[in-house]
Amino acid sequence: MSLETNQVHLDQPYRNTPFSGKKIKTLPLASSMGGEVLDVQLKDLDDEAFDELKQALWHHKMLFLRKQDLTPGDQLEFTKRFGELGTDAYTKGLPDFPDVQPVLKEAATKSKIIFGGGHHTDSAFLECPPSVSVLHGVDIPPYGGDTIWYNSVMAYESLSPAMREMLKPLKVHMGAERVIAGMRDSMEQTNNGKQMTDIELDLDVEKMVKGSFHPMVRKHPESGELSLYVDGVYAVGIEGMDRRESKPLLEFLHGHATQEFFACRLRWEADTVAIWDNRICLHRAFNDYDGFRRELHRTTVMGERPMSISD
Ligand code: SIN
Repeated sequence: MSLETNQVHLDQPYRNTPFSGKKIKTLPLASSMGGEVLDVQLKDLDDEAFDELKQALWHHKMLFLRKQDLTPGDQLEFTKRFGELGTDAYTKGLPDFPDVQPVLKEAATKSKIIFGGGHHTDSAFLECPPSVSVLHGVDIPPYGGDTIWYNSVMAYESLSPAMREMLKPLKVHMGAERVIAGMRDSMEQTNNGKQMTDIELDLDVEKMVKGSFHPMVRKHPESGELSLYVDGVYAVGIEGMDRRESKPLLEFLHGHATQEFFACRLRWEADTVAIWDNRICLHRAFNDYDGFRRELHRTTVMGERPMSISD
């Protein structure tokens, strides 16, 4: 890859190749990342198929499957196969399934901010952010409301050697101050910070804003890949730097990490399920479907404390 001005141009082979296991086969979504898993139902995977699905996930970073027959209970059982459930830092969950988080905007709701509308990695302000997230499309607009992901390994690898060396020892401050400020700015939509669009919130604001310091260059515990751990929502500072210094660097890195060559974009259908490795990619939802209802159910897996290059 080469870097010209702020644009990355791919000059290497298509590396998001199909995954072909005994039971799991994929079709790549974009040259950067993403893969469609074909011909399986998530709730019916045996251990061998589940193990292959995990390998496919580390390879593609985001997987999706169409036409999944999945109740909230099935989604929970599937998610738990990756490990302990993650912390839901935003909501109390569905009434009968507190570990299943609703992502909802009603047709009549108009809002400048939506859940997941900025480039982010899920709940990065936690000490142990989710490793894997699972999102099930329940009620999907006929058009609009796509989700886009970006490969943070490619983002890291396409930086210059000097920049990579400079970033390696740094710790990024991940905190939710922008999210909380955004909610306060659009008070009428958020019902005094208790609601975002149609999602009832349950926030520990102080803890979310305090956040955590994580390695800016993150090592993946399974693949050993190094990725750039900077997003546009939670990355608010750098340990040891004042904001005058950290802000331009974080803005550059956010802009760099969200270029189109690193991206894949999913058009949802009802009963589509997306699974992503939250440690190694960014994502955002599009807020372009006013007049239509959009409901998805999200579950997450508890991640490890983010690892640095020296762990
Ligand atoms: C999320 O950020 O987890 C939600 C993404 C979406 O609604 O597409």
